[in-house]
Amino acid sequence: MLVSLVGLPGGGKSTVGRQLARRIGATFLDSDAVIEERIGMPIRSFFEQFGEASFRDKEAAVIDELTREADRGRTVLATGGGALLRPINRQLLRDRSTVVYLRSSPEELFRRLKHDTQRPLLQVKDPLAKLKELYEQRHPLYEETAHYSVDTGRPSVATLVNMIIMQLEVAGLLERSPDTRWDKPSSAGH
Ligand code: S3P
Repeated sequence: MLVSLVGLPGGGKSTVGRQLARRIGATFLDSDAVIEERIGMPIRSFFEQFGEASFRDKEAAVIDELTREADRGRTVLATGGGALLRPINRQLLRDRSTVVYLRSSPEELFRRLKHDTQRPLLQVKDPLAKLKELYEQRHPLYEETAHYSVDTGRPSVATLVNMIIMQLEVAGLLERSPDTRWDKPSSAGH
């Protein structure tokens, strides 16, 4: 079983993905980390030297590979925020995994990312305007591709993880576990 997390940069795909994997006993994969390993440099440097289109080529190859592995066990995959720009990635992720959209507003992301220096697309004069533009462009793609969505606005990471687990249980993709029962308050704490 493969669960993929999609959404704008800063929405918590890696953090939530790692904790979700721990909770359900899954392997955690991060496509950006795999790409960095392959290209042997930070994504930001690769963008500067080779441009965004080359990065998207590497990204598409890695997504194909990571979603293809046939007899894997449970796996959680965090994708890069721009992975769904290419239609082939949208199709592969939707066909080969259960896609969860971590939905965040540009304002919320700006609060989290205003001091970020690693994300090439946000190294601009007005990062909030850029996040709004990315949201306009990408929100429909995330919605179209995702099987489920969760709002990242208020809940803690533990609560977001519980919400995703419940959705997977209701869909019959995970067995119901005693600590995610509807009628019991969350045991994960805050
Ligand atoms: C990108 C998001 C980044 C990374 C690259 C491009 C984007 O991943 O893949 O810098 O286009 O939004 P995160 O969403 O993990 O920041």
